Amino acid sequence: MKYNISQCLSIPVLLGITVNTMAQDKNNIRLTDKQSIPRVVAAMTAEEKVSLVTGMGLRIEGLPPGILPPGDPKDANIPEKVPGAAGRTHAIPRLGIPSITLSDGPAGVRIAPFRNNDTTRPYYATGFPVATLLASSWDTALVTQIGKAMGKEALEYGIDVILGPGMNIQRNPLGGRNFEYFSEDPLLTGHMAAAIVRGVQSMGVGASIKHFAANNQEFNRMQLNTIVSQRALREIYLRGFQLAVKYGQPWTVMSSYNKINGVYTSESPALLKNILRGEWKYKGIVMTDWFGGTDPVKQLNAYNNLLMPGFYAQSQALLAALKDGSLSAQTLDANVTGILQLAIQSPAFKKYKYADKPDLTGSAAIVRRAAAESMVLLKNDSALPIAPPGKVALFGVTSYKLIAGGTGSGDVNKAYVTDLDKAMLQGGYVLDAGLQTEYARYIAEQTAQQPKPTGLFSTPPPIPEQQPDTDAINRLAKYMDAAIITIGRNAGEGSDRKVEDDFLLREDERTLLKAVSEAFHANNKKVIVVLNIGGVIETASWRSLADAILLAWQPGQEGGSSIADVISGNVNPSGRLAATFPMAYQDVPSAADFPGKELPGGSDNGNPLMGKPSEVRYAEDVYVGYRGYTTRNIATAYPFGYGLSYTTFSYSRPRIASAPGTYPVRISVTVTNTGNRPGREVVQLYVSAPAIAQGRPVRELKAFAKTAILPPGGKETLQLSVNTQDLAWFDEAKMAWVVTPGNYKFELGSNAAAVISSADLKIPKEIIAEKVSVSVK
Ligand code: BGC
Repeated sequence: MKYNISQCLSIPVLLGITVNTMAQDKNNIRLTDKQSIPRVVAAMTAEEKVSLVTGMGLRIEGLPPGILPPGDPKDANIPEKVPGAAGRTHAIPRLGIPSITLSDGPAGVRIAPFRNNDTTRPYYATGFPVATLLASSWDTALVTQIGKAMGKEALEYGIDVILGPGMNIQRNPLGGRNFEYFSEDPLLTGHMAAAIVRGVQSMGVGASIKHFAANNQEFNRMQLNTIVSQRALREIYLRGFQLAVKYGQPWTVMSSYNKINGVYTSESPALLKNILRGEWKYKGIVMTDWFGGTDPVKQLNAYNNLLMPGFYAQSQALLAALKDGSLSAQTLDANVTGILQLAIQSPAFKKYKYADKPDLTGSAAIVRRAAAESMVLLKNDSALPIAPPGKVALFGVTSYKLIAGGTGSGDVNKAYVTDLDKAMLQGGYVLDAGLQTEYARYIAEQTAQQPKPTGLFSTPPPIPEQQPDTDAINRLAKYMDAAIITIGRNAGEGSDRKVEDDFLLREDERTLLKAVSEAFHANNKKVIVVLNIGGVIETASWRSLADAILLAWQPGQEGGSSIADVISGNVNPSGRLAATFPMAYQDVPSAADFPGKELPGGSDNGNPLMGKPSEVRYAEDVYVGYRGYTTRNIATAYPFGYGLSYTTFSYSRPRIASAPGTYPVRISVTVTNTGNRPGREVVQLYVSAPAIAQGRPVRELKAFAKTAILPPGGKETLQLSVNTQDLAWFDEAKMAWVVTPGNYKFELGSNAAAVISSADLKIPKEIIAEKVSVSVK
């Protein structure tokens, strides 16, 4: 009979005997490389193994007792390696196992800027643009570059794993963390996540794709049951993760807080074992979201390797489970082995000598360019660009206090944020000094009156717009060339957004917009609205007041300069929407089922952080975002994929370049710059598949590509490819991805609602692209 080391360990472990007594040469065993892992596992005691799968805990000054479960008392006096990092694993020095340090997050390295005992300097990190802006680039090469800059910064600050990218689907515009996520579409999401992961990991630092899966809102997130069909799960909510695993090969995956169909994701063998490891061949580890799930034994049995941030009661429960057999030694060893495999890749293991001196200046330059390129020009009636030294009246609080990124764990402690007013002056524009002084005074006064942040997460309340008097606006309208009004929004972890005063403009914003628009239009001057927002808002009711609308998203710490670069035309914006802007909130396919409801009789057991037992039903099924609007013929304000440029483009007809019956299907198209400025175009390839009885979205994005900067008259031929799984739908009855026979239209669209031209492909008989193993419940 064959047996392996872990089987040989199981009996002593079950008896509670420490395992290292079996190892003859225990003093010489050290983690040196992959081959050493089985020996190291064999030499570990049960306590050591359990310590490895439970992190070193989280301490947050000022939180009332009882909110966070206490860590292992033995860890209490071990100083933090990187203050402000989100967590770390236990080191086992006698075996050469290092502690791995993990930090948030999607928009850069989240660490504390100030350290006790060190008054010599701050430790700032770059505030990168939010993920939604990055996705609007539709440019995987650019996003990989961002990932590299982030990874390098993490490396230089002693971090081993970045807890990002966030990649949940933006199911509803009110999702509080949408800014941390890429898109309403899984294909774009998956490729963007993979691109960033490749960048981060090329620096020798791990990434963590999160939150796996179906974590699309904040409402009662730790006790939320997401009820979703297997088809919507596979086609929408898991698909992006599947692509990110395939094309990014992340070192780690973070399971989510919620349940799917009744089971916590971190406790779901179907999700973590069968699908992620089995079907997708994922090789890395899974960690919980912070304090996620309730049963550590179920978590380890589901191969959720690492419980973060880890607390004492968990390790005690695991030791007891080893004794009573509800956790086998073999399963524990398999979880431990995963963490050791992560460890040997880490900078900590390689003893990387970080100097706490990342190249913040280099990153700032990348951030400025990436944000400018990725902004989306929603409207432009000959208002932009405006060449310096134009005279511009800047209105709106956020023109003077830019929102670089969202709040919560997706926030970054950055050295500065470049405001739009400063950047415009720097760019050679003439501003009204009186207006600038007045806004500065008003913002200082309002900020001083803001309530102190409460709880773990909080988003500061917005500062209401002050209304300059009519005479002042009229005077400005006479002598300035144009007006810019910035509208700002912020949100973050812990709560979702609201329709009133958030998705919809506030009354004070409408009044300002109207007053400025009337005065400037009466003087034949243009009005430009800049949207400095992290999530989709309503635009249809007020957009006629503006001549141009520039969607700047939350553009990172160089945001003001990036916006100024687009206003001046130094950068021709080439962003396209990664999420639909609906006409009205009621039109959103999930509007009736967001954010779900609390279950009767449920309790948070006195811990507000836990929230109350709740459920949400994804009744719109696969018709999320543009899949819903296009299929049901609902007009939108700005469709998915939409965005203007300062130039124009024409397309050749798409040509199917691959031989019939061969996969992937290869499509080529030539794009020509037909305008008079250099610019980049995003080519979007949608597929309209034959109808099926179960119903299917009218078209779905299946590939995309972006041209280089084309000079006027310049051309580029782009190649796109679509494989059988992209063409397939998920058939619950067959438990398979199925390509139904019939006619497939390969449509080139300038957005999801506007097909430019198409090519047909007949598929004569059914293709089973992939059989799957389990349902998620
Ligand atoms: C968030 C994660 C984050 C973790 C560590 C959790 O509250 O949901 O996204 O990575 O905290 O800060």
